[in-house]
Amino acid sequence: MADLTLGRTIFGDPAHTGNLLSATEALALLTEWVPNERLQLHMLQVGALMKAWALEKEMLSEEEAHKWWLAGLLHDADWEKYPDQHCRRIIEELEKRQLDPSVIRTIACHGPRHFGVEPETTMEKMIYVFDELSGFIHAAALVRPTRYAGMDIKSVQKKLKTPAFAAQVSREEIQDALTRAQQNQDNIIAFILDIQPGVLPIR
Ligand SMILES: [Fe+2]
Repeated sequence: MADLTLGRTIFGDPAHTGNLLSATEALALLTEWVPNERLQLHMLQVGALMKAWALEKEMLSEEEAHKWWLAGLLHDADWEKYPDQHCRRIIEELEKRQLDPSVIRTIACHGPRHFGVEPETTMEKMIYVFDELSGFIHAAALVRPTRYAGMDIKSVQKKLKTPAFAAQVSREEIQDALTRAQQNQDNIIAFILDIQPGVLPIR
């Protein structure tokens, strides 16, 4: 695997604080950069989780929650077309578009072990949590005949303890993300099971 370390910890320009993409602009970027519908769905799920968390748990305004949504929605935008430049490429694009620096830095924080950027803010810590766990939970839903329906915390826990299931998802990274965010695993699983099934593919 290519070295994806970003080699810097500051992103965007403080002068661009408050510059956001509209939902229409962000979804257009997503469909242009990400032909793979499964990956699109993952990004929509992380976006929805980030926004719901901002509103429900952090009690933030709609405008602040929109930043959380943008970061979640766009975090993997370059993964399919530019796997060797993952994260770097979308960060450069968003810097070119003069996006709010907090959104760009949050995207840079979604994999500290890969990109070498330490999550500091709550938004940065939560993208790491949701990225790791939402993909895993979606994989667990796909192998159930009823998908998300009737899925509970216990069944996710069981899958987490089965190393052969979704072996590419690092259990260590899941734990690392939860520890950094000081979040309880069961609470996060419950939150994801509440929000994620309602997210639909773009097409
Ligand atoms: Fe992701």
